[in-house]
Amino acid sequence: MKNELCIVLDFGGQYNQLIARRVRECGVYCEVHSYKTPIEKIKDMNPKALIFTGGPNSVYDENSPHITKEIFELGLPILGICYGCQLMAYTLGGEVSSAPVSEYGKTNTFYDINSLLFKGLSTENTSWMSHTDYISKLPKGFESIAHTDNCPVGAMQNINKKLYGIQFHPEVNHTVDGSKMLHNFLYNVCGFKGDWTMSDYAKTAIQQIRDKVGNGKVLLGLSGGVDSSVAAALLSKAVGNQLTCIFVDHGFMRKNEGDEVEQAFANWNINFVRVDAKPQFMAKMNGVSDPETKRKIIGEEFIRVFEQEAKKIGTVDFLVQGTIYPDVIESGLGDSAVIKSHHNVGGLPDYVDFKEIIEPLRMLFKDEVRQLGIELGLSSVLVWRQPFPGPGLAIRIIGEITDEKLETLQDADYIFREEIAKAGLDKDINQYFAVLTNMRSVGVMGDGRTYDYTLALRGVTTTDFMTADFAKIPYEVLEKVSARIINEVKNVNRVVYDVTTKPPATIEWE
Ligand code: XMP
Repeated sequence: MKNELCIVLDFGGQYNQLIARRVRECGVYCEVHSYKTPIEKIKDMNPKALIFTGGPNSVYDENSPHITKEIFELGLPILGICYGCQLMAYTLGGEVSSAPVSEYGKTNTFYDINSLLFKGLSTENTSWMSHTDYISKLPKGFESIAHTDNCPVGAMQNINKKLYGIQFHPEVNHTVDGSKMLHNFLYNVCGFKGDWTMSDYAKTAIQQIRDKVGNGKVLLGLSGGVDSSVAAALLSKAVGNQLTCIFVDHGFMRKNEGDEVEQAFANWNINFVRVDAKPQFMAKMNGVSDPETKRKIIGEEFIRVFEQEAKKIGTVDFLVQGTIYPDVIESGLGDSAVIKSHHNVGGLPDYVDFKEIIEPLRMLFKDEVRQLGIELGLSSVLVWRQPFPGPGLAIRIIGEITDEKLETLQDADYIFREEIAKAGLDKDINQYFAVLTNMRSVGVMGDGRTYDYTLALRGVTTTDFMTADFAKIPYEVLEKVSARIINEVKNVNRVVYDVTTKPPATIEWE
């Protein structure tokens, strides 16, 4: 069964993915496509509605993205947001001008609650505005259904043609009731049934994988991260022990983590191969202290170990990749693909014999991947795992790595994570960990002088990991963590908390 589809046509807006996520949160399947997508292709995809995103341009800019008028004649309901709203007005014969007062940020807005878009909402509330142009004359057949003190057309509608435009951003949380507006558009205006649920998705995906794989052999590189773990769970449900998972334990995992990953899959019907490759990796890291060299060595060694194991299995038919939707979407302007700041360790092995790649999470956002994991019954340790870099603790030990330093860091990091969880902060802080700095300082313990390592704690809040704020962890929690680390962990006599944002600092220290 195919889901009803809403297409987000992207005009280069920074919130394109957020709109799609909000639509899916309303239970409607949604895909992001460039505004350049030919109209014939759009028709072939058979959407039930379209949403135009915002964008950085003015409709009058020479190179601003435009769209053919035909799109408005398909009979589909359309919602234009910000630039998308102005473009709708402009294309249909209205006027867009430079606003006497541009609006940015939280703005008091008045709504016409007789409109289907604002049905059941308050007549006055806060919206999130970000515009320098405004609609100065409505196109024929349209009426204004919202305004602010400075913007006469905060939203517009043409009921007969089911065309709607919103000047502000309903997809960002600052717009109070923004999600309800999207819900109203999808259900009251477009008549979606709401057939996008994770349990349906899981059933369909399992069936599709079975049809594709048949009796074939499948290989998956398991890192213990959310994506590869959920992919493994899905494949296991679909094809059972036709699946072999290779888990390369490079020895730089957090305390007990290798065992936790193995344990989480103990009762699943798969072939689980754990390679204890720590000695091999440690040997390669001997004398290495440069961060990028560490990454390179670990990445290459990882592929080598994976290949060695894969060879033992022989030819496989399919190799699974844990690509998720944000990796797939390109900017609507088409000139800048989403750039990832790093690659996961592993990459694509060159010498593994396989016929085809399967990417079972390709259509899902991260939070949906987690939901799917829950749906499939995957251990919550894996479903809620915080992001962890492929090279692991190797890039959290500044300078050269030794067994002793590794153990010190694992123990300190464990205490930090335990106390954050006890304080109930683990879902609020997006990433938190300990770093063993290469610096030693003088301390005093009992009657003796010490000269030991300084341990740094890092905790960040972020939505995209491209920018981040340091987490405001309560002093009492930090105090407890510090006291426990000093008392329980060898070789540390000083604990500091990193209070730098990204940029200028990065999240990791190396
Ligand atoms: P930075 O330190 O660049 O980190 O602010 C952003 C996010 O990326 C993770 N990270 C990595 N992940 N391999 C990975 O798989 C790496 O080499 C790597 N370096 C950083 C980091 O943990 C954070 O979530």
